[in-house]
Amino acid sequence: MKVINIVGARPNFMKVAPIVEAMKRRTSEFAPLLVHTGQHYDPQMSDTFFRDLALPKPDVHLEVGSASHAVQTAAVMQRFEPVVLSEKPEWVLVVGDVNSTLACALVCVKLGIKVAHVEAGLRSRDRTMPEEINRLLTDQIADLLFTPSRDADANLLGEGISPGRISFVGNVMIDSLLNNLKRAEASAIRKKLKVVGGEYVVVTLHRPSNVDNQETLGRILDAITEIAERLPVIFPVHPRTREKLKEFGYETELLRFGNLRIVDPLGYLDFLRLFSGACLVLTDSGGIQEETTALSIPCLTLRENTERPITVELGTNKVVGTSTDRIIDAALAVLNGGSGALRKQPPPLWDGRTSDRILDALKGFSPP
Ligand code: UD1
Repeated sequence: MKVINIVGARPNFMKVAPIVEAMKRRTSEFAPLLVHTGQHYDPQMSDTFFRDLALPKPDVHLEVGSASHAVQTAAVMQRFEPVVLSEKPEWVLVVGDVNSTLACALVCVKLGIKVAHVEAGLRSRDRTMPEEINRLLTDQIADLLFTPSRDADANLLGEGISPGRISFVGNVMIDSLLNNLKRAEASAIRKKLKVVGGEYVVVTLHRPSNVDNQETLGRILDAITEIAERLPVIFPVHPRTREKLKEFGYETELLRFGNLRIVDPLGYLDFLRLFSGACLVLTDSGGIQEETTALSIPCLTLRENTERPITVELGTNKVVGTSTDRIIDAALAVLNGGSGALRKQPPPLWDGRTSDRILDALKGFSPP
Protein backbone atom coordinates (compact mmCIF):
# COMPACT_ATOMS: atom_id res chain seq x y z
CA MET A 1 0.00 0.00 0.00
CA LYS A 2 1.56 3.29 -1.12
CA VAL A 3 0.98 6.04 1.46
CA ILE A 4 2.12 9.66 1.29
CA ASN A 5 2.71 11.00 4.81
CA ILE A 6 2.59 14.78 5.19
CA VAL A 7 4.63 16.93 7.58
CA GLY A 8 4.71 20.72 7.53
CA ALA A 9 5.10 22.36 10.91
CA ARG A 10 6.86 21.54 14.17
CA PRO A 11 3.95 19.72 15.88
CA ASN A 12 3.64 17.34 12.91
CA PHE A 13 7.03 15.69 13.16
CA MET A 14 6.47 13.76 16.40
CA LYS A 15 3.10 12.49 15.11
CA VAL A 16 4.36 11.24 11.76
CA ALA A 17 7.69 9.77 12.95
CA PRO A 18 6.22 6.65 14.65
CA ILE A 19 3.82 6.06 11.75
CA VAL A 20 6.60 6.15 9.13
CA GLU A 21 8.76 4.00 11.38
CA ALA A 22 5.97 1.40 11.67
CA MET A 23 5.42 1.46 7.89
CA LYS A 24 9.12 0.90 7.29
CA ARG A 25 9.03 -2.00 9.73
CA ARG A 26 6.04 -3.53 7.91
CA THR A 27 7.65 -3.36 4.44
CA SER A 28 5.67 -6.23 2.99
CA GLU A 29 2.47 -4.24 3.64
CA PHE A 30 3.41 -0.53 3.23
CA ALA A 31 5.43 1.68 0.90
CA PRO A 32 5.63 5.04 2.70
CA LEU A 33 6.65 8.35 1.13
CA LEU A 34 7.34 11.48 3.17
CA VAL A 35 6.41 14.94 1.90
CA HIS A 36 7.53 18.08 3.80
CA THR A 37 5.56 21.16 2.83
CA GLY A 38 8.19 23.50 4.32
CA GLN A 39 5.64 25.44 6.43
CA HIS A 40 8.34 25.43 9.10
CA TYR A 41 11.88 25.75 7.76
CA ASP A 42 14.26 27.14 10.41
CA PRO A 43 16.76 24.43 11.41
CA GLN A 44 15.54 24.50 15.04
CA MET A 45 11.87 24.26 13.94
CA SER A 46 12.44 21.41 11.47
CA ASP A 47 15.88 19.78 10.84
CA THR A 48 16.52 19.19 14.55
CA PHE A 49 13.29 17.19 14.76
CA PHE A 50 14.22 15.02 11.77
CA ARG A 51 17.47 14.21 13.54
CA ASP A 52 16.02 13.67 17.01
CA LEU A 53 13.11 11.55 15.78
CA ALA A 54 15.14 9.63 13.16
CA LEU A 55 12.73 10.74 10.45
CA PRO A 56 13.98 9.85 6.97
CA LYS A 57 14.88 12.69 4.61
CA PRO A 58 11.67 13.83 2.87
CA ASP A 59 11.12 12.26 -0.55
CA VAL A 60 9.66 15.60 -1.67
CA HIS A 61 10.12 19.07 -0.17
CA LEU A 62 7.59 21.70 -1.25
CA GLU A 63 9.48 24.64 0.34
CA VAL A 64 6.43 26.86 0.84
CA GLY A 65 7.79 28.90 3.79
CA SER A 66 5.90 31.55 5.76
CA ALA A 67 3.10 33.70 4.33
CA SER A 68 -0.46 34.76 5.10
CA HIS A 69 -2.91 31.90 5.70
CA ALA A 70 -4.40 32.16 2.21
CA VAL A 71 -1.06 32.37 0.43
CA GLN A 72 0.53 29.57 2.48
CA THR A 73 -2.47 27.23 2.09
CA ALA A 74 -2.68 27.94 -1.64
CA ALA A 75 1.06 27.41 -2.12
CA VAL A 76 0.90 23.99 -0.45
CA MET A 77 -2.06 23.02 -2.65
CA GLN A 78 -0.41 24.16 -5.88
CA ARG A 79 2.83 22.38 -5.13
CA PHE A 80 1.30 19.21 -3.69
CA GLU A 81 -1.16 18.49 -6.51
CA PRO A 82 1.48 17.45 -9.09
CA VAL A 83 3.11 15.18 -6.50
CA VAL A 84 -0.17 13.34 -5.94
CA LEU A 85 -0.81 13.12 -9.67
CA SER A 86 2.57 11.58 -10.38
CA GLU A 87 2.79 9.29 -7.31
CA LYS A 88 -0.84 8.08 -7.36
CA PRO A 89 -0.82 6.91 -3.72
CA GLU A 90 -3.52 4.70 -2.29
CA TRP A 91 -3.72 6.91 0.81
CA VAL A 92 -2.49 10.34 1.91
CA LEU A 93 -2.07 10.65 5.66
CA VAL A 94 -2.31 14.08 7.30
CA VAL A 95 -1.88 14.86 11.00
CA GLY A 96 -2.94 17.61 13.40
CA ASP A 97 -4.43 20.95 12.52
CA VAL A 98 -1.90 23.15 10.74
CA ASN A 99 -2.42 24.85 7.38
CA SER A 100 -0.51 22.05 5.60
CA THR A 101 -2.99 19.49 7.00
CA LEU A 102 -6.02 21.12 5.44
CA ALA A 103 -4.26 22.10 2.20
CA CYS A 104 -3.12 18.53 1.43
CA ALA A 105 -6.48 17.01 2.39
CA LEU A 106 -8.25 19.42 0.07
CA VAL A 107 -5.99 18.55 -2.87
CA CYS A 108 -6.69 14.83 -2.39
CA VAL A 109 -10.45 14.96 -1.98
CA LYS A 110 -10.75 16.80 -5.31
CA LEU A 111 -8.57 14.16 -7.02
CA GLY A 112 -10.43 11.21 -5.50
CA ILE A 113 -7.40 10.08 -3.47
CA LYS A 114 -8.23 8.67 -0.03
CA VAL A 115 -7.19 10.81 2.96
CA ALA A 116 -6.70 9.69 6.55
CA HIS A 117 -6.62 12.33 9.31
CA VAL A 118 -4.69 11.51 12.47
CA GLU A 119 -5.79 13.46 15.58
CA ALA A 120 -9.29 13.98 14.22
CA GLY A 121 -12.31 15.24 16.12
CA LEU A 122 -10.67 17.67 18.56
CA ARG A 123 -12.71 20.86 18.98
CA SER A 124 -12.06 24.02 20.99
CA ARG A 125 -15.37 25.57 19.75
CA ASP A 126 -13.34 28.73 19.17
CA ARG A 127 -13.54 29.62 15.51
CA THR A 128 -11.13 32.52 15.87
CA MET A 129 -8.36 29.88 16.13
CA PRO A 130 -6.98 29.07 12.67
CA GLU A 131 -6.44 25.50 13.85
CA GLU A 132 -10.15 25.05 14.67
CA ILE A 133 -11.06 25.88 11.07
CA ASN A 134 -8.37 23.49 9.81
CA ARG A 135 -9.71 20.73 12.10
CA LEU A 136 -13.37 21.19 11.16
CA LEU A 137 -12.75 21.24 7.43
CA THR A 138 -10.20 18.43 7.32
CA ASP A 139 -12.57 16.16 9.24
CA GLN A 140 -15.43 16.95 6.87
CA ILE A 141 -13.48 15.88 3.78
CA ALA A 142 -11.19 13.07 5.00
CA ASP A 143 -12.24 9.45 4.40
CA LEU A 144 -10.89 7.99 7.62
CA LEU A 145 -10.68 9.81 10.94
CA PHE A 146 -8.28 8.57 13.61
CA THR A 147 -9.26 9.91 17.04
CA PRO A 148 -7.06 10.22 20.14
CA SER A 149 -9.91 10.13 22.69
CA ARG A 150 -13.60 9.27 22.94
CA ASP A 151 -14.66 12.92 23.22
CA ALA A 152 -13.35 13.37 19.68
CA ASP A 153 -15.58 10.50 18.47
CA ALA A 154 -18.56 12.23 20.05
CA ASN A 155 -17.69 15.55 18.37
CA LEU A 156 -17.49 13.89 14.95
CA LEU A 157 -20.75 11.97 15.39
CA GLY A 158 -22.39 15.23 16.48
CA GLU A 159 -21.28 16.79 13.19
CA GLY A 160 -23.05 14.05 11.25
CA ILE A 161 -20.00 11.99 10.35
CA SER A 162 -20.72 8.32 9.78
CA PRO A 163 -19.36 5.97 12.50
CA GLY A 164 -17.75 3.86 9.74
CA ARG A 165 -15.30 6.72 9.05
CA ILE A 166 -14.20 7.06 12.69
CA SER A 167 -11.51 4.92 14.28
CA PHE A 168 -10.46 5.45 17.91
CA VAL A 169 -6.76 4.58 17.99
CA GLY A 170 -5.32 6.67 20.84
CA ASN A 171 -2.65 9.35 20.78
CA VAL A 172 0.19 8.83 18.34
CA MET A 173 2.30 11.60 19.86
CA ILE A 174 2.58 9.46 22.97
CA ASP A 175 4.23 6.75 20.83
CA SER A 176 7.04 9.23 20.16
CA LEU A 177 7.15 10.32 23.77
CA LEU A 178 7.49 6.80 25.14
CA ASN A 179 9.93 5.74 22.40
CA ASN A 180 12.24 8.63 23.24
CA LEU A 181 12.05 9.03 27.03
CA LYS A 182 15.13 6.92 27.59
CA ARG A 183 17.12 8.54 24.76
CA ALA A 184 16.27 11.99 26.12
CA GLU A 185 18.09 11.16 29.35
CA ALA A 186 21.35 11.67 27.45
CA SER A 187 20.44 15.32 26.79
CA ALA A 188 22.61 17.79 28.68
CA ILE A 189 19.99 20.54 28.56
CA ARG A 190 19.35 20.74 32.32
CA LYS A 191 23.06 21.01 32.96
CA LYS A 192 23.48 23.59 30.22
CA LEU A 193 20.67 25.71 31.67
CA LYS A 194 21.91 25.02 35.22
CA VAL A 195 18.61 23.68 36.53
CA VAL A 196 17.91 20.76 38.82
CA GLY A 197 15.06 18.28 38.26
CA GLY A 198 11.86 19.23 40.12
CA GLU A 199 13.04 22.77 40.85
CA TYR A 200 12.10 24.84 37.82
CA VAL A 201 9.17 25.93 35.67
CA VAL A 202 8.92 25.72 31.86
CA VAL A 203 6.91 28.18 29.75
CA THR A 204 5.97 28.04 26.06
CA LEU A 205 3.81 30.54 24.19
CA HIS A 206 3.04 30.87 20.50
CA ARG A 207 -0.72 31.21 19.89
CA PRO A 208 -1.49 34.35 17.87
CA SER A 209 -4.29 35.18 20.37
CA ASN A 210 -1.69 35.34 23.16
CA VAL A 211 1.41 36.73 21.52
CA ASP A 212 0.13 39.01 18.75
CA ASN A 213 -1.80 41.18 21.20
CA GLN A 214 0.42 43.46 23.29
CA GLU A 215 -1.91 43.66 26.26
CA THR A 216 -2.52 39.90 26.51
CA LEU A 217 1.18 39.14 26.13
CA GLY A 218 1.96 41.78 28.80
CA ARG A 219 -0.51 40.20 31.26
CA ILE A 220 1.05 36.76 30.76
CA LEU A 221 4.60 38.11 31.11
CA ASP A 222 3.64 39.87 34.36
CA ALA A 223 2.57 36.49 35.76
CA ILE A 224 5.69 34.75 34.52
CA THR A 225 8.05 37.31 36.03
CA GLU A 226 6.19 37.00 39.34
CA ILE A 227 6.60 33.19 39.26
CA ALA A 228 10.30 33.70 38.46
CA GLU A 229 10.63 35.38 41.88
CA ARG A 230 10.11 31.90 43.35
CA LEU A 231 11.85 29.50 40.97
CA PRO A 232 13.92 29.52 37.77
CA VAL A 233 11.66 29.79 34.71
CA ILE A 234 12.90 28.48 31.35
CA PHE A 235 11.13 29.98 28.32
CA PRO A 236 12.10 28.51 24.91
CA VAL A 237 10.80 31.15 22.52
CA HIS A 238 8.97 30.36 19.25
CA PRO A 239 10.01 32.61 16.30
CA ARG A 240 6.56 34.26 16.20
CA THR A 241 6.83 35.12 19.89
CA ARG A 242 10.43 36.33 19.54
CA GLU A 243 9.31 38.80 16.86
CA LYS A 244 6.48 40.08 19.04
CA LEU A 245 8.66 40.43 22.17
CA LYS A 246 10.95 42.63 20.09
CA GLU A 247 8.16 44.59 18.44
CA PHE A 248 6.45 45.40 21.77
CA GLY A 249 9.76 46.27 23.45
CA TYR A 250 9.45 43.48 26.05
CA GLU A 251 12.66 41.66 25.18
CA THR A 252 15.15 43.95 26.91
CA GLU A 253 12.80 44.45 29.87
CA LEU A 254 12.68 40.67 30.46
CA LEU A 255 16.46 40.39 30.53
CA ARG A 256 16.35 42.16 33.91
CA PHE A 257 14.79 39.08 35.51
CA GLY A 258 17.79 36.86 36.20
CA ASN A 259 15.64 33.88 37.10
CA LEU A 260 13.76 34.02 33.78
CA ARG A 261 15.78 32.40 31.03
CA ILE A 262 14.71 33.15 27.48
CA VAL A 263 16.26 30.57 25.14
CA ASP A 264 15.92 29.57 21.48
CA PRO A 265 13.41 26.84 20.52
CA LEU A 266 14.66 23.44 21.65
CA GLY A 267 14.84 20.18 19.73
CA TYR A 268 12.58 17.24 20.59
CA LEU A 269 14.94 15.39 22.93
CA ASP A 270 16.17 18.50 24.75
CA PHE A 271 12.63 19.74 25.26
CA LEU A 272 11.46 16.32 26.46
CA ARG A 273 14.34 16.21 28.95
CA LEU A 274 13.59 19.74 30.07
CA PHE A 275 9.82 19.61 30.61
CA SER A 276 9.90 16.10 32.09
CA GLY A 277 11.94 17.50 35.01
CA ALA A 278 9.82 20.61 35.57
CA CYS A 279 7.62 21.01 38.62
CA LEU A 280 5.19 23.05 36.54
CA VAL A 281 4.62 23.83 32.84
CA LEU A 282 2.75 26.88 31.58
CA THR A 283 1.77 26.67 27.91
CA ASP A 284 -0.66 27.53 25.16
CA SER A 285 0.39 24.53 23.05
CA GLY A 286 -2.03 21.67 22.40
CA GLY A 287 0.62 18.97 22.25
CA ILE A 288 2.29 19.97 25.51
CA GLN A 289 -1.04 19.66 27.36
CA GLU A 290 -1.03 16.02 26.23
CA GLU A 291 2.64 15.32 26.87
CA THR A 292 2.46 16.67 30.43
CA THR A 293 -0.64 14.54 31.07
CA ALA A 294 1.20 11.46 29.82
CA LEU A 295 4.09 12.13 32.22
CA SER A 296 2.01 13.49 35.14
CA ILE A 297 3.66 16.90 35.11
CA PRO A 298 1.33 19.69 36.33
CA CYS A 299 0.31 21.92 33.40
CA LEU A 300 -1.49 25.25 33.30
CA THR A 301 -2.98 26.13 29.92
CA LEU A 302 -2.90 29.85 29.23
CA ARG A 303 -6.02 29.92 27.08
CA GLU A 304 -9.76 30.24 27.67
CA ASN A 305 -10.51 26.81 26.18
CA THR A 306 -8.92 23.55 25.13
CA GLU A 307 -9.66 21.14 22.30
CA ARG A 308 -8.13 18.45 24.53
CA PRO A 309 -10.58 18.22 27.49
CA ILE A 310 -9.36 14.73 28.36
CA THR A 311 -6.13 16.27 29.67
CA VAL A 312 -8.25 18.17 32.20
CA GLU A 313 -10.65 15.30 33.00
CA LEU A 314 -8.07 12.54 33.43
CA GLY A 315 -4.75 14.34 33.29
CA THR A 316 -2.77 17.08 34.95
CA ASN A 317 -4.00 20.04 32.93
CA LYS A 318 -5.89 23.08 34.17
CA VAL A 319 -7.19 25.76 31.79
CA VAL A 320 -6.53 29.09 33.51
CA GLY A 321 -6.88 31.78 30.84
CA THR A 322 -4.63 34.80 30.57
CA SER A 323 -5.40 37.01 33.54
CA THR A 324 -2.24 37.75 35.54
CA ASP A 325 -3.86 36.99 38.90
CA ARG A 326 -5.45 33.71 37.82
CA ILE A 327 -2.17 32.44 36.40
CA ILE A 328 -0.23 33.39 39.54
CA ASP A 329 -2.86 31.89 41.88
CA ALA A 330 -2.96 28.61 39.95
CA ALA A 331 0.84 28.43 39.74
CA LEU A 332 1.27 29.09 43.45
CA ALA A 333 -1.33 26.43 44.26
CA VAL A 334 0.83 23.90 42.41
CA LEU A 335 4.14 25.19 43.76
CA ASN A 336 2.78 25.18 47.31
CA GLY A 337 1.98 21.51 47.02
CA GLY A 338 -1.51 21.65 45.59
CA SER A 339 -0.59 19.54 42.60
CA GLY A 340 -1.81 16.44 44.44
CA ALA A 341 -5.27 17.69 43.63
CA LEU A 342 -4.52 17.20 39.92
CA ARG A 343 -5.67 13.71 38.91
CA LYS A 344 -3.07 11.65 37.13
CA GLN A 345 -4.18 8.87 34.89
CA PRO A 346 -3.06 8.22 31.33
CA PRO A 347 -6.10 8.40 29.04
CA PRO A 348 -7.18 5.16 27.33
CA LEU A 349 -4.94 4.02 24.44
CA TRP A 350 -2.22 6.57 25.16
CA ASP A 351 0.00 3.53 25.41
CA GLY A 352 2.71 3.87 22.74
CA ARG A 353 1.01 1.49 20.29
CA THR A 354 -1.19 3.90 18.33
CA SER A 355 0.86 3.83 15.10
CA ASP A 356 0.33 0.08 14.62
CA ARG A 357 -3.40 0.51 15.25
CA ILE A 358 -3.43 3.21 12.55
CA LEU A 359 -1.70 0.91 10.06
CA ASP A 360 -4.10 -1.96 10.83
CA ALA A 361 -7.10 0.32 10.35
CA LEU A 362 -5.75 1.65 7.03
CA LYS A 363 -5.44 -1.89 5.77
CA GLY A 364 -8.84 -2.97 7.00
CA PHE A 365 -10.77 0.09 5.81
CA SER A 366 -13.76 -0.32 3.56
CA PRO A 367 -15.81 2.81 2.80
CA PRO A 368 -19.08 2.99 4.77
C1 UD1 B 1 1.94 27.01 13.21
C2 UD1 B 1 0.55 26.37 13.22
C3 UD1 B 1 0.12 26.13 14.65
C4 UD1 B 1 1.15 25.34 15.40
C5 UD1 B 1 2.49 26.05 15.31
C6 UD1 B 1 3.58 25.30 16.02
C7 UD1 B 1 -1.07 27.01 11.47
C8 UD1 B 1 -2.23 27.84 11.17
N1 UD1 B 1 -0.44 27.28 12.63
O1 UD1 B 1 1.84 28.28 13.83
O2 UD1 B 1 -1.10 25.40 14.65
O3 UD1 B 1 0.76 25.18 16.74
O4 UD1 B 1 2.83 26.18 13.93
O5 UD1 B 1 4.80 25.96 15.95
O6 UD1 B 1 -0.73 26.14 10.70
N2 UD1 B 1 8.72 31.38 11.47
C9 UD1 B 1 10.08 31.30 11.50
N3 UD1 B 1 10.66 30.08 11.21
C10 UD1 B 1 9.94 28.98 10.90
C11 UD1 B 1 8.56 29.08 10.87
C12 UD1 B 1 7.94 30.28 11.17
O7 UD1 B 1 10.77 32.27 11.78
O8 UD1 B 1 10.54 27.91 10.66
C13 UD1 B 1 8.09 32.68 11.83
C14 UD1 B 1 7.66 33.47 10.62
O9 UD1 B 1 7.84 34.80 10.89
C15 UD1 B 1 6.18 33.20 10.53
C16 UD1 B 1 5.79 33.02 11.99
O10 UD1 B 1 6.92 32.42 12.60
O11 UD1 B 1 5.49 34.22 9.90
C17 UD1 B 1 4.60 32.14 12.19
O12 UD1 B 1 4.77 30.88 11.52
P1 UD1 B 1 3.50 30.09 10.94
O13 UD1 B 1 3.92 28.76 10.41
O14 UD1 B 1 2.72 30.98 10.05
O15 UD1 B 1 2.60 29.89 12.21
P2 UD1 B 1 2.97 29.38 13.66
O16 UD1 B 1 2.67 30.48 14.59
O17 UD1 B 1 4.32 28.75 13.71
